[in-house]
Amino acid sequence: MDLGLAGKAALVTGGSRVVGRAVAASLLREGARVMIAARNSKRLETAREALERETGGTVRAHAANLESDVDARALIDATIAAFGHLDILVNAAGTVNPAEFLSLTEDRWPAVFEQKLNGYVRCLRHAIPVMKGRGWGRIINVSGLGAREAGARTVPVGLNNAAVLNLTKSLAHALAPDNILVNAVIPHIIDTDRQDETMRELAALTGRPEAEIRKQRVSEIPLRRMGRPEEVGDVVAFLASERTSFVTGAAWHVDGGIARGI
Ligand SMILES: NC(=O)c1ccc[n+]([C@@H]2O[C@H](COP(=O)([O-])OP(=O)(O)OC[C@H]3O[C@@H](n4cnc5c(N)ncnc54)[C@H](OP(=O)(O)O)[C@@H]3O)[C@@H](O)[C@H]2O)c1
Repeated sequence: MDLGLAGKAALVTGGSRVVGRAVAASLLREGARVMIAARNSKRLETAREALERETGGTVRAHAANLESDVDARALIDATIAAFGHLDILVNAAGTVNPAEFLSLTEDRWPAVFEQKLNGYVRCLRHAIPVMKGRGWGRIINVSGLGAREAGARTVPVGLNNAAVLNLTKSLAHALAPDNILVNAVIPHIIDTDRQDETMRELAALTGRPEAEIRKQRVSEIPLRRMGRPEEVGDVVAFLASERTSFVTGAAWHVDGGIARGI
């Protein structure tokens, strides 16, 4: 199946690390040109070189802290300067940490949304007018299962990811007349450094051994294994493609079947 992605201009935020990097790789293998963005410029350049080597595609990198609107604006401008336009935006930048609700004091609360949601919003705000001008666009927001399945210590992750789904649906309606399709993916327990950190954080919060937490979490997944980053990347590439031209406002689970809701 030809996904029709050859020559498309894509921006993948969070493209220096596992999930975002895998998304970039999937898009590159389909012939898209890809800008990756993250804060740490050294890690970003290492990822850019590796992606170029592995896929033979056109990869650019731009360091940006998406807690800054100035950086978000500059990132969209840099993508247009590199490729001439922007067809596909994949919002994947963010690292949301588990926390006890009462530890999120009045001072700390606004920062909860800076971990993920606000950066997505900033990129959307600057990317949408560009896509509107061309009458074609694909936006894929990386959410997470915490959006739909809440836990005792998942308030930050749950609220960020639930807001991302709500935003996805609203924008799907608002942007349909402009032929801009907006969808989300909902990954869960993808085998990443970040998951290792989450297991350690949960162990510290609960006082249970990390190995026990890992075993229990994996045993709850019907496919009995963690997901691979490329399994998220390929779903995102499909949603970004010409083959999903009647799909908007959807949220595609990439979770080994763990979500039980219909
Ligand atoms: N891994 C999973 O199992 C899983 C499950 C559900 C959902 N997700 C979602 O998938 C996405 C990526 O997850 P991941 O596991 O690959 O996370 P990760 O390893 O923590 O990577 C996060 C990426 O975002 C960048 N980033 C973080 N804060 C940023 C900021 N303020 N400005 C710009 N870039 C920023 C990081 O680079 P710098 O640190 O250099 O900025 C990195 O490239 C996130 O949205 C996450 O919530 C992951």
